[in-house]
Amino acid sequence: MAKDTLTITDNRTGKSYEIPVTDGTIRAMDLRQIKTSNDDFGLMSYDPAFVNTASCRSAVTFIDGDKGILRYRGYPIEQLAEQSTFLEVAYLTVKGELPAPSHLNAFVRNITLHTIIHENITKFIDGFHYDAHPMGILVSTVAALSTFYPDAKKIFDAESRKLQTHRLIAKMPTLAAFAYRHSVGMPYAYPDNDLSYTGNFLNMMLKRTELKYRPNPVLERALDVLFILHADHEQNCSANAMRSVGSSHVDPYSAVAAATAALYGPLHGGANEQAVRMLAEIGSVQNVAGYIKRVKAGETRLQGFGHRIYKNYDPRAKIIKQIADEVFAVTGKSPLIDIALELERIALQDEYFISHRLYPNVDFYSGIIYQAMGFPLDMFPVLFAIGRTPGWIAQWQEMLLDPETRIARPRQVYVGSQRRDYVPVAKRSDDTTAAA
Ligand code: CMC
Repeated sequence: MAKDTLTITDNRTGKSYEIPVTDGTIRAMDLRQIKTSNDDFGLMSYDPAFVNTASCRSAVTFIDGDKGILRYRGYPIEQLAEQSTFLEVAYLTVKGELPAPSHLNAFVRNITLHTIIHENITKFIDGFHYDAHPMGILVSTVAALSTFYPDAKKIFDAESRKLQTHRLIAKMPTLAAFAYRHSVGMPYAYPDNDLSYTGNFLNMMLKRTELKYRPNPVLERALDVLFILHADHEQNCSANAMRSVGSSHVDPYSAVAAATAALYGPLHGGANEQAVRMLAEIGSVQNVAGYIKRVKAGETRLQGFGHRIYKNYDPRAKIIKQIADEVFAVTGKSPLIDIALELERIALQDEYFISHRLYPNVDFYSGIIYQAMGFPLDMFPVLFAIGRTPGWIAQWQEMLLDPETRIARPRQVYVGSQRRDYVPVAKRSDDTTAAA
C-alpha cells in the first residue's frame, strides 16, 4: 500500500530509515539521524543556492515555473494586472485578502498620509556624490529610516507592524524620487496627496516649474501595472534576504535595506538595466544574429532571459509586452523594441535556448518601457524596489509569525585546513603565503 514516506538505505552501514514525506518534501533534519557511528554528526543535505530546498511554508505567492503561472494569494497575475491597482494589490499581498471598499479607502488614506519624509533625510541625500547610483542612495536612506522610527523595533506588536507597513510602502517612492532629483541637480518635489500613489511618484520624479503636476493617465496606469507585476515573487534572492535578515529580529527598515541591496545586483533587479544596455549595444536588428552567436559561444548572457523558476514564458513578460504598445502610443516607439522582438524571435527558435529552456523574463521588456517613459537606466532597479516592497513586508511578516521560524543559519561543508600551529611572521617564507 502507498505510504507518504521515503525509505532510505545507508549503504555505508546497511541500515534503513523511514522518513515522512509532507507536501512533496522531506525535512532535512530527518536526515540527521543517519549516522555511521555514535560520534558522527549525522547526514546533512548540501544545496548551494537553495535550488532544491524549501526554506519556508508560504501562502503569499504561487508560481508554477513549468506552466508559466503566477498568482498572488491565489489571484492570477493577469486578472490583477487588468482589473486591480497597485495599492489594492499591496493590501492583498500584505493582508492576504482583497479589501472591502472601506478597508481599501482607509489603506489608501494611510499610505497617502505617510508619503512625506523627515527633512533631515534630504540632508544626507544631499551628501551623496552627484553621480551616486540611486539604488545605493535608496539602500542607505531606507536603512536610515530605522533611526527615525525606533518604535519599529516592536516587531511582535501587530499595530507597530501595521504602521511600519504604511510608512514603508508610502516612503519608498519618496526616497526613490528624491534620489533621482539629487542625481540630476533638481530641487526635491514634495508629495502631492491629491494624486494617486503612482501619479504622485511621477509628480515627485518629473515635476518642473508647473504649479500642479498632472500625470499622463496612460503612463500612470502603465507604471501602476508594472508595480503590480513586481509586487512579489515568492522566495527570490531579495525576499530570502528580507526573511534571513529579519529572522535576527532586526527592525523592518533594516531588513528592507538588506532586501533592496540584494535587488541591486545585476542577476536580480539590476537585469532590466542590463537588458536595455545590451539592446543598445546590439544597436540594430541586423546585429541580432551575431549577438546570439556570442551568447551561444558563452562570451556573454542574454540579459532579461532565463529564470531560476520559470522554464516557460514569464507571465509578467507577456503582460509587459502588451503594455508596451499603449506606452509607445504616448511616448513614441522605442527603437530598441524592434531589436528586442527580433532577439526574442530568433532565441525562441534556437536549439540552445530551447534546450536550456530560456525565455524572456520580466526584465526583458520592462526596461524598454521605463526608458520610453523617461526614466534613466539607473532608476530601473529602484522602480522594481518600489513595486516589491509589499512583497518583502508580506514575506517578513509571515516569517515572524511562523512558529517554526528560528534565526536563519545554514550549515556548511568545511573544506579548509585541518588544525595547524601558528608560525611567527619572521619564520614564514614567501612561497607559503599569498601576495597581498
Ligand atoms: N543567456 C544565456 N545562457 C543562459 C542565460 C542567459 N540569460 N541564463 C542561463 N543560461 C544558461 C547558463 O549558461 C547555463 O548553461 P549550461 O548549463 O550549459 O552551463 C544554464 O542556462 C543554466 O544557467 P544558470 O546560471 O545555472 O541558471 P540559474 O537558475 O542559476 O540563473 C538567472 C538564473 C536569472 C540568474 C540566469 O538565467 C541569468 O543570468 N539571466 C540573465 C540575468 C537576468 O535576466 N536576470 C533577471 C531574473 S528575473 C528578475 C528577478 O526575478 O529578479
